Amino acid sequence: MSTGRLRRRSSLHSLWRIRSYVRPYAHQMLLMTAAAGIAVGASIVVPLITRSVVDGPISHGDRSGLVPLGLLALALGVLEAGLVFVRRWVQSYAALGMETALRDDLYAKLQGLPVAFHDKWQTGQLLSRATTDLSTIRRFLSFGLVFLIINIATFVTVIALLVHLYAPLAVLVAAAAVPLFLISRNLSKAYLDTSRRVQDQQGDLATLVEESAVGVRVIRSFGRRDHVGHQFRSGARTLHDSAVDKATLVARFWSLFDLVPSVTLGGVLLLGSLAVTEDAMSLGDLVAFVSLMLMLVWPIESLGWILANAQEAMTAADRVYDVFDTESEIVDRPGAVDVGAAEGHLRFEGVGFSYASSSHPVLRRVDLEVRPGETLAIVGVTGSGKTTLTSLVPRLYDVTAGRITLDGRDIRDIRLTSLRRLVSSAFEDATLFSSSVRDNLTLGHSDASEDEVSEALEIAQATFVHDLPWGLDTRIGEQGLSLSGGQRQRLALARAVLGRPSVLVLDDPLSALDVHTESLVEEALRRVLSRTTALLVVHRPSTVALADRVALLEHGTITAVGTHSELMETLPSYRAVLSQHAEEVTAR
Ligand SMILES: Nc1ncnc2c1ncn2[C@@H]1O[C@H](COP(=O)(O)OP(=O)(O)OP(=O)(O)O)[C@@H](O)[C@H]1O
Ligand SMILES: [Mg+2]
Repeated sequence: MSTGRLRRRSSLHSLWRIRSYVRPYAHQMLLMTAAAGIAVGASIVVPLITRSVVDGPISHGDRSGLVPLGLLALALGVLEAGLVFVRRWVQSYAALGMETALRDDLYAKLQGLPVAFHDKWQTGQLLSRATTDLSTIRRFLSFGLVFLIINIATFVTVIALLVHLYAPLAVLVAAAAVPLFLISRNLSKAYLDTSRRVQDQQGDLATLVEESAVGVRVIRSFGRRDHVGHQFRSGARTLHDSAVDKATLVARFWSLFDLVPSVTLGGVLLLGSLAVTEDAMSLGDLVAFVSLMLMLVWPIESLGWILANAQEAMTAADRVYDVFDTESEIVDRPGAVDVGAAEGHLRFEGVGFSYASSSHPVLRRVDLEVRPGETLAIVGVTGSGKTTLTSLVPRLYDVTAGRITLDGRDIRDIRLTSLRRLVSSAFEDATLFSSSVRDNLTLGHSDASEDEVSEALEIAQATFVHDLPWGLDTRIGEQGLSLSGGQRQRLALARAVLGRPSVLVLDDPLSALDVHTESLVEEALRRVLSRTTALLVVHRPSTVALADRVALLEHGTITAVGTHSELMETLPSYRAVLSQHAEEVTAR
């Protein structure tokens, strides 16, 4: 959705920038070009040997003269085969190396870009850059670029030889190359368009299948099976039609591809025979001429493809550099310092925030203080900005007004790596990855010791993991074991407390829990909270009791701060928010 908004540079420029990835493989690229060049050269010599065979041993009936020429032709054939092997081998090595380096950098860049970037870009857009676009670039670098040079060189050399053999016929061949090239160019363009359409439709269909698998419960319970089935059939039909279009296109052009060389060949044979009978050329010349001429068909035909591929690679390079050129706004400020440990004194000072996608501020003039060791709960109606507020502390987004301080220091003056070690978060949805329990736990602290892991599990009441089939090495997530909502929450809590963060930010860690599990997790939370400064978003009155003080967030600003009982007594709006949530819970 956002690609249109991005600035467009010249495509050639983006492709040129890829050279830094090509440079480490410069030797291989040269070797590839040399191998391809020599192989083509060897194959060009063979018709000339044939000419000598026809005009020498054959026309003079001299059998002994055949042997050396025959052996030479054989040797050239073997040489060519060997060189083709070398080229392909080097090509795969170099091309895959370049693609991997590019993809690694792209992935690292994506990981470094702020959350706001991912809000703006669709996952599919990023995925296609990391896969299809990079493959297109690889194809061009490994194949297109080399053969662009080789094919043009072949064309020039062969035409020169043809002129040498018999100039009038050479002109005919050169003229026939023009329509052949144009056909190839048009076909490539049309083919690429259709291919892209087929690819898009395949993607759409895959999305449909994925969504209906993920949403199978919703689809069943709302009785939408027929509707989804219909959607799938119509998507599959469109895909089928496009694939047939593609096949028809290829069939139509392929016959033209055969027609032009065949007609030219007919003309050359006819005029060539006349020339031979009139002694304008020898029989050997004619044989060599025809063989050489047939060697031109593939380079000319493929030139159209290569140019189309080059164009595609330019667009792909543009799309990839769109991502590389996105500046990360959330970076270390000049002079930012490493902070080893913090007391945990968190202050919001006149904080304002609006998302880039809308000018309407979500937070306005938020002043808030969480003293070391204290737990402050944030309460507010849905959409009041609670999640937004909490995401400012680990700098998932930066404040657009005011500042947030930790122990009196603006968090933007603390290096990001430090800040994210000091501040630990758990969000509403308790995201776990398809990996082992241990990997999920030590996500932010890969160096955590066994004791630290056990302690974190203990505190978060997540010791159930020891009873899993393979303990901490059990895989969870899509291809592994499913955990219940409560188990996921407790695991996410354990992850958050691992490494003893100075500040804990918990966004509604008890959402999606039934009452029984809730009490388990609440107990876990109580222990977690007793150890650190905490900012805790809560919905339920029972969880509010865990906090020392509560702040009421209304329309993006803090309207009251006090203990739970104070606010209950004095503020009807506070009572309203909590009872609304209580009703929501009962309704569930
Ligand atoms: N990534 C985003 N981009 C643009 N606007 C957003 C984004 N996330 C949230 N908003 C908007 O900001 C406002 C506050 O959202 P936020 O998620 O902070 O509310 P919340 O208090 O956490 O709500 P809930 O109780 O439902 O979790 C909403 O109006 C929402 O539409
Ligand atoms: Mg929220």
